[in-house]
Amino acid sequence: MSTTNNERFNAEANGWDSNPNVQLATALAHKALLARLPSNSNELSSYDVLEIGCGTGLLSLALAPAVRSLTAVDAAQGMIDVLQAKLLAKHQSHQHDINNVRAVCALLEDPDDPRIQIDPVADHAEKGDSTDMHLRFDLVISHLVLHHIPDLPAVLRTMFGCLKPGSGRVMLTDFEDFGPEARRFHPEGKMDGVERHGIAKGEMQELLVQARFVDVVVETAFEMEKLVETEPGSGIKGPTMTFPFLICTGRRP
Ligand SMILES: C[S@@+](CC[C@H](N)C(=O)[O-])C[C@H]1O[C@@H](n2cnc3c(N)ncnc32)[C@H](O)[C@@H]1O
Repeated sequence: MSTTNNERFNAEANGWDSNPNVQLATALAHKALLARLPSNSNELSSYDVLEIGCGTGLLSLALAPAVRSLTAVDAAQGMIDVLQAKLLAKHQSHQHDINNVRAVCALLEDPDDPRIQIDPVADHAEKGDSTDMHLRFDLVISHLVLHHIPDLPAVLRTMFGCLKPGSGRVMLTDFEDFGPEARRFHPEGKMDGVERHGIAKGEMQELLVQARFVDVVVETAFEMEKLVETEPGSGIKGPTMTFPFLICTGRRP
């Protein structure tokens, strides 16, 4: 990710949660994930989850109570600081203590990156010389992140490497590139760090297969209404447009 992009997300971090579009998209993505995760709560509660591009942790904190652990990674320190503050506040209030989330500031490129080799529950570094001893995840998620990633094949390879062989799965949500109008998802003034105007179904399917995922499914997960600029670049909002979101799933064999 570019420095400009980091600066943008650092600057936006404190006001991030007050954007109703962010809250709505998170709630819809959470629902889409739950619909595809094991309904058996015993199975789900054994899951170690890695979220890449967690932002302020809205989705991480929604999912955390259902799973064993959640490692929440973001490249922007500002976003991670907001998540850390939430975790501290929950801890201090005792009523909503969350002990299974770890916030990590990193631009993840290596599944063996020591910054994610710490179990959020046991809170100790996984030790061992053999690669078999490295921490691997049952589930890797990302939401509204892929459209910011310059090199999709590289990030998919990293995600693949982070998963448990045989059973680990990815579930990635982002708005769909359904044609030229998809550009209107972002106001023209907020195009910094936008690498593509959504993700395309066929391309994602192909990229997941190339990254060696099996059981690959790329499908519409939900649709979201969003106010767009009247005229691109005008800064004036209205009307609303409907944006389809895709969920990309695959398993590491
Ligand atoms: C549009 S925001 C979405 C944040 C959060 N998922 C949400 O929906 O509220 C994209 C986030 O992805 C992060 N990001 C982009 N590329 C990344 C990468 N390669 N590794 C980690 N984080 C990344 C950015 O710092 C930013 O916080």
